[in-house]
Amino acid sequence: MIEVTGLTKRFGKTLAVDDLSFTVPSGRITGFLGPNGAGKTTAMRLILGLEQPTAGRATVNGVPYRELRRPLTRVGALLDATAVQGGRRAGQHLRWLARSNGVSRARIGGLLELVGLGRAEHKRVGGFSLGMKQRLGLAAALLGDPEVLVLDEPANGLDPEGIRWMRGLLKSLAAEGRTVLVSSHLMSEMAVTADHLIVVAQGRVRVDAGITELVRPGTSLEDAFLDLIGRRAR
Ligand SMILES: Nc1ncnc2c1ncn2[C@@H]1O[C@H](COP(=O)(O)OP(=O)(O)O)[C@@H](O)[C@H]1O
Ligand SMILES: [Mg+2]
Repeated sequence: MIEVTGLTKRFGKTLAVDDLSFTVPSGRITGFLGPNGAGKTTAMRLILGLEQPTAGRATVNGVPYRELRRPLTRVGALLDATAVQGGRRAGQHLRWLARSNGVSRARIGGLLELVGLGRAEHKRVGGFSLGMKQRLGLAAALLGDPEVLVLDEPANGLDPEGIRWMRGLLKSLAAEGRTVLVSSHLMSEMAVTADHLIVVAQGRVRVDAGITELVRPGTSLEDAFLDLIGRRAR
């Protein structure tokens, strides 16, 4: 479970995250939906202890991320799939991550297969498409077999088949009882992936509701989303 309470982050004059409070329970996919610049990445970085909040707090299973022991075994994160050094080979990258985090390397082969990179193990990441980098990032997030997953726009760069595959994988991870927080700026994708949506705009939570409450007959998903973030032309 992830708990966010009054979480606020200011960068100079920009209030990136404005008094966010929400809970992400285990066993379901929680979609973190909002337009570009809404504060999704900043909120996730705060949850992962990569930024210091201006106010408020975030905990993972009751503990701030920075206080977790062996965090890779508790929380798997995919933030910026392109951050991997291009000269590294896929398998080598995962082995390095495992070694530097005290995690078993035994899962690496299976994980590469799981994310569809079985044949790319010895290829350099620099030659990967964005979709392949997302797949590698997902393997890295799963390396420590964590109970909590924080994934920032993991579908970016995937082709339609890849998006469908990712959706299935996230659903199975949630069905195993894991906590899955996944961000997106695409309502249509979240509507078919998430069980629950937290909609943010301009750093604030606009909606925190189950997907069935949001998707009503007679309104298109896109209209519902634009309504929620207050952007629809009237
Ligand atoms: N390191 C930073 N320094 C200054 N401004 C930032 C920084 N990170 C994010 N921002 C600003 O915070 C706001 C929210 O950004 P972000 O969290 O990346 O939104 P999202 O992920 O929803 O697109 C944006 O206005 C962005 O420009
Ligand atoms: Mg972002």
